[in-house]
Amino acid sequence: MTSLRSVVVGTGSSLPARVVTNAELTERVDTSDEWIVQRTGIRQRYLAAPEETTSVLGTRAAQAALDDAGLSADDIDLVICATSTPDHTFPSTATQIQAALGIRQGAAFDLQAVCAGFVFAVTTADKFLTTGGARRALVIGAETFSRIVDWEDRTTCVLFGDGAGAIVLEAREAEAAEGRGVLSSSLRSDGRHRDKLYVDGGPGSTGTTGHLRMEGREVFRFAVGSVTDVIVEALERAGTTAADLDWFVPHQANRRIIEASADKIGIARDKIVLTVDRHGNTSAASIPLALDVARRDGRIREGDLVMIEAIGGGFSWGAALIRW
Ligand code: UT7
Repeated sequence: MTSLRSVVVGTGSSLPARVVTNAELTERVDTSDEWIVQRTGIRQRYLAAPEETTSVLGTRAAQAALDDAGLSADDIDLVICATSTPDHTFPSTATQIQAALGIRQGAAFDLQAVCAGFVFAVTTADKFLTTGGARRALVIGAETFSRIVDWEDRTTCVLFGDGAGAIVLEAREAEAAEGRGVLSSSLRSDGRHRDKLYVDGGPGSTGTTGHLRMEGREVFRFAVGSVTDVIVEALERAGTTAADLDWFVPHQANRRIIEASADKIGIARDKIVLTVDRHGNTSAASIPLALDVARRDGRIREGDLVMIEAIGGGFSWGAALIRW
């Protein structure tokens, strides 16, 4: 059987029109620019207008990724949207994006692993593509967390933002891929921690959407202390080391978490792609947003070795290594 690789052939992203600075948030809750910057590195975030739903942002990002790849709707036969803030409980946001883009073939579904959703979605798409289940996949991370934060709770509302990012993955025969593609991944979940970061509602419990609740300090401790195991495993599975990485593109939750993780693994600070200052924490959208920024500004180039990594509610966490 021919061996296949999932190669990134395009990226795209979309942000809401409205920028909200830390100073603006001080009018809403008892906080300060100094506290937010010092504790998180966040200076601003984008917040969606009512008509900028998750599927609207996701569609824009996906269209941009298709344009970047020079492809059209007819070329895509798999759409996976990582989100925890779907427009509706069902149908999936992925099917809404599929319809909006005019894709008529293949499958479309949502994947929910909260902030780790994009890493889980890339890993899932890779399984389809490398086993012949699909030829080209749109992998999207799209969120409107501003809809589920409690705007009275200063410990969480200052952290999150809205946005979407997408990549196009294409199945290529290993020889034609010339070393490019998803090289390895490592995913983990541990539901014993489900009450550290959760939403206190849902269709099957309260019948309401609910609000995000987080024990920030506990999440911080776990993120810095335990999450690097998936990075190490992904590197080992690909037979490579941290020193070989060109770019580290982690989930953008907190600058301190990102830098502590990089230090622990031995990844140089100048190899980190950091967008948390501009975007805030956009959950499953943060990695594809950062990938698109770094690719378009010329940092990530073809042939570069890129590590993506994230942790989110559950806890669920994962890492994937991509030869760009
Ligand atoms: O994306 C999913 C993963 N999520 C994360 O990775 C988030 C992980 N957690 C974090 O990033 C950090 O824990 C936070 C940024 C949420 C908080 O930073 P921290 O250094 O852990 O602060 P803390 O929770 O220990 O709070 C320190 C103080 C508290 O006051 P006292 O008890 O020391 O008097 C809080 O009440 O800061 C206070 N505080 C605030 N002050 C001003 C909490 N939120 C705010 C705020 N403005 N917005």
